[in-house]
Amino acid sequence: MRVTVVGSGFVGQMTGMRLVQRGIAEVVLIDIVEGLPQGLALDIKQSAPIEGFEPLVTGTNDYADTAGSDVVVITAGFPRQPGMSRMDLLGKNAGIVRSVVEQIVPGSPDAIIIVVTNPLDEMTFLASEVSGFPRERVIGMAGVLDSARLRFFIAEELGVSPSVVEAMTLGSHGEAMVPLPRHASVDGRPLTELVDEATLERLYARTRDAGAEIVALLKKGSAYYAPSASVARMVQAIASDSGELLPACAWCTGQYGIDGVYVGVPVRLSRGGVKEIVELDLNDDELRALRIAAEGIRAKCADLAKL
Ligand code: NAI
Ligand code: 2OP
Repeated sequence: MRVTVVGSGFVGQMTGMRLVQRGIAEVVLIDIVEGLPQGLALDIKQSAPIEGFEPLVTGTNDYADTAGSDVVVITAGFPRQPGMSRMDLLGKNAGIVRSVVEQIVPGSPDAIIIVVTNPLDEMTFLASEVSGFPRERVIGMAGVLDSARLRFFIAEELGVSPSVVEAMTLGSHGEAMVPLPRHASVDGRPLTELVDEATLERLYARTRDAGAEIVALLKKGSAYYAPSASVARMVQAIASDSGELLPACAWCTGQYGIDGVYVGVPVRLSRGGVKEIVELDLNDDELRALRIAAEGIRAKCADLAKL
């Protein structure tokens, strides 16, 4: 599998490294900054003898070198700075995502596009519109990250390993994140039996604001270890055609009563992209929250047309 990662900043380079180091894909790193992807590719390759992997990575500033990609991960764009919301990035990053997609599509017409650039849900819609690809081949990464953050916070709260915690968040990557307490468990036990309502609310609020918490601490730029791990997990599911159920920003066509909009939902990922949107059993409150998230994204996507 050949994967192009557009944007060789913190998220892009770390994603590339994870994919190559784990042998998931041959990776092309591309960026507008001359020398940056080439230098990073060399550095990654020189770690191969130590870490024991095949050094299948190249760096370039030329889209011709990305031709024939099976997956294209878009991380190009500005990250948040302290005090900024993801939505503050809309105007700046829309132009970047548009130009990236226009340059990627001719050489890789059959690729699956995974959008990472913020604001995530709106940039995924934009990439879909500009590419003209079938919607199942354009998806956004946020749910795996938000769910991982929630799983970590639950594990920390209860003093257990994150590996025994299952939890999923849907909705938007932002204020309208939708946690699903009834679908969360710790070592097979329902989460709702282990923590009280007030604790749950505190953990959800911290998860929703987890990106901003890291931005405030870093003072420059945003998170990249967990984001890159999340993208690598999605690429792995695609590469192995596993049909793994993961939350992702996907185009709904009536699922959950939501139609014609991108929003975070559980999907099965395969070599063709989104194989299926899975409809979990949601209660009325959860359904309402998910639909509110979807309508919020729909409204912001309409704003994109005015830019
Ligand atoms: P960064 O600033 O470290 O890297 C961005 C890279 O994009 C830079 O190397 C820059 O030169 C490059 N770039 C800019 N315009 C370009 C263009 N037209 N073509 C190719 N490359 C271009 O930022 P970082 O931390 O890697 O974040 C990247 C994006 O991902 C941000 O928008 C950030 O908000 C978003 N993000 C989204 C997450 C999610 O959960 N969806 C999680 C983490 C970050
Ligand atoms: C995050 O959640 C910035 O969206 C990015 O860390």
